[in-house]
Amino acid sequence: MSTLQNDLLLRTLRGEKTERTPVWMMRQAGRYLPEYMVLRNKYGFFERCQTPELACEITLQPVDIIGVDAAILFSDILVVPQAMGLEVQLIESQGPILPDPIKTLADLKRIRVPEVDESLGYVFDAIKMIKKELHGRVPLIGFAGAPWTLLCYMVQGKGSKTFDEAKTFCYTQPEVAHQLLQMITDTTIKYLQGQVKAGADTIQIFDSWGGLLGPEDFEVLSLQYIRQIVTTLKDLAPTIIFAKGAWQSLDKMAETGAAGLGIDWCIKPQTARQFAGKNITLQGNYDPAKLLSPIPIIKKEVKAMLDAFGPGRHIANLGHGILPNVPVDHARAFVDAVKEYRFD
Ligand code: CP3
Repeated sequence: MSTLQNDLLLRTLRGEKTERTPVWMMRQAGRYLPEYMVLRNKYGFFERCQTPELACEITLQPVDIIGVDAAILFSDILVVPQAMGLEVQLIESQGPILPDPIKTLADLKRIRVPEVDESLGYVFDAIKMIKKELHGRVPLIGFAGAPWTLLCYMVQGKGSKTFDEAKTFCYTQPEVAHQLLQMITDTTIKYLQGQVKAGADTIQIFDSWGGLLGPEDFEVLSLQYIRQIVTTLKDLAPTIIFAKGAWQSLDKMAETGAAGLGIDWCIKPQTARQFAGKNITLQGNYDPAKLLSPIPIIKKEVKAMLDAFGPGRHIANLGHGILPNVPVDHARAFVDAVKEYRFD
């Protein structure tokens, strides 16, 4: 086992006492960084994901430039549908497009649970390279999309505010939907086991569209599959579940065995703590748009956020991904404010 110089994030996930709160930002490797834009202008999105040297360089950018307490693998949740056999395009300013989405039972024949070493081996290669280049400076977060969120894209075929077609699919063809969710789950389990084997220190599951479901549907269409993933990873690495907008189910998510739960800015830290209970780490929950405020206000609000969560069992983060128009010095001010703060 390699030793880390900064293991604040991992100790916080274990519930240990730390000298300060750790901090990272969702989408920290992205368009607000001019260094990312240089590579974005030269290479296509999936070319950046599939070339270990590029994925490695992009992953390290926020560690070097912003000084976050964790690296997160540069990749995308949509590499899983791609590996299962669906075409995925990322069109600038349009977001993801899947030209031949899943609509019926017959469409399931076009996809498979792949051998991950073959179809996603490039991710494992990137992880090995990142771990080497990090020299133990900070932990590496691996990730995957939650089965429900991946179903949303695989059925709708594109981004959506309501994912109405994905929901119609689930409500009119529930058996086919569950077959698809189980295929995604089986792929994701193998994929994440491979990420940990390659060197990921912790895993985050992104359920970006979990908040579109009511509590019962969230259990049936999302959480029962996340639970399978968390259960199989439990002895390998700590997991963080980020189900955006699904705060009504924090209590059930806390019972899965996950080490951490991500929350967005629409719930108070105190309320989230009441729902989730004492024995789990919470991650969040600064409104990403508030990074556009003047720096002194960011500093003040970060302190208020840290006080609201209190010492221990908290990882400072945004409530969702950083916006492309955030000035780099504002992102750095957010991170520095967390790193400077001490509970006495
Ligand atoms: O957090 C990180 O820095 C690691 C890399 C990462 C990306 N996507 C890179 C990316 C992670 C963890 C993701 C997860 C992801 N991808 C999610 C879940 C998190 C969330 O934001 O809710 C989702 C839903 C996706 C699917 C996806 N990928 C969308 C909807 C888009 C287009 C919208 C957008 O933000 O541009 C992407 C593209 C994408 N993935 C970019 C990056 C840096 C932007 C690509 C570019 O134009 O350079």
